[in-house]
Amino acid sequence: MAIERHHVKSKLAVAYQLSNLPETADHIPDTELLRESSLRRMTRKYYKVYLKPDQGRKSKGIIRIERLKYGRFKLRQESRTKVVRASELGRAVHRLTGDTRYLIQRAVNSVTRDGRHFDLRCHALRIDGEWRAVGICGRLGERGSIVTTSHSGGTPTSLRKLFRRHLKYTDREGIRMVRRIRKLIIHTVSNVSKMYPNLQEFAVDMGLDTRKRLWIFEVNIEPLIEGNFKLLPDKTLYRKISRLRKLAK
Ligand SMILES: Nc1ncnc2c1ncn2[C@@H]1O[C@H](COP(=O)(O)OP(=O)(O)O)[C@@H](O)[C@H]1O
Ligand SMILES: [Mg+2]
Repeated sequence: MAIERHHVKSKLAVAYQLSNLPETADHIPDTELLRESSLRRMTRKYYKVYLKPDQGRKSKGIIRIERLKYGRFKLRQESRTKVVRASELGRAVHRLTGDTRYLIQRAVNSVTRDGRHFDLRCHALRIDGEWRAVGICGRLGERGSIVTTSHSGGTPTSLRKLFRRHLKYTDREGIRMVRRIRKLIIHTVSNVSKMYPNLQEFAVDMGLDTRKRLWIFEVNIEPLIEGNFKLLPDKTLYRKISRLRKLAK
């Protein structure tokens, strides 16, 4: 009997897999399954954490918890905010997550010089058996937003503009960074493809903190390019990915 492969997404399984690989381990933010015990431990250890549905997409259900003074915590989901006491945190979180499986992850300070959240969308294809990074763009979150996707007001932006205008990198710094990103993409997708051997396409969502460290937020399986590359003013990358996709099939 043929074994059917289902491409079940699990951010947590991917994070575990990558945290066991020397080339990617240092790029995985501390991540655990959300439970009462991990909520307590992680909120004590880190001043900000993200809660994400294990099978989530398009930033749906994402929650951020920030530790405030005097044993209080601020919860944010989309534009809603709530401040609770430590003793109420577990219950407040459960009210938002319900029984959905969530992970809890250390927050990465991936912000521009003027404090907007951003991340990197990195598209990879396997062509003739070899993984290639075929397109990278930035995504700038709306001012004040905790996520960057276009579905929640984010703006896809070319890497050049992101690096120059929003991060104030010199050309040399930009070139170096692109090299590092590409290397990390290839290590990441080569490894994750062992979990999904039939897939020829992934997109890695990466953070880049103010100390120039790269962090992997998630690896998307069956990624779309309409909500990111297609929205760039210059359609060159969008066309390139569309064209190369056919070769990867
Ligand atoms: N650990 C984190 N620290 C800071 N921002 C994060 C973190 N995890 C996710 N984000 C933000 O939330 C967005 C959505 O998270 P992601 O893991 O990509 O889930 P989704 O499947 O909803 O796209 C990211 O693009 C990023 O902007
Ligand atoms: Mg994502």
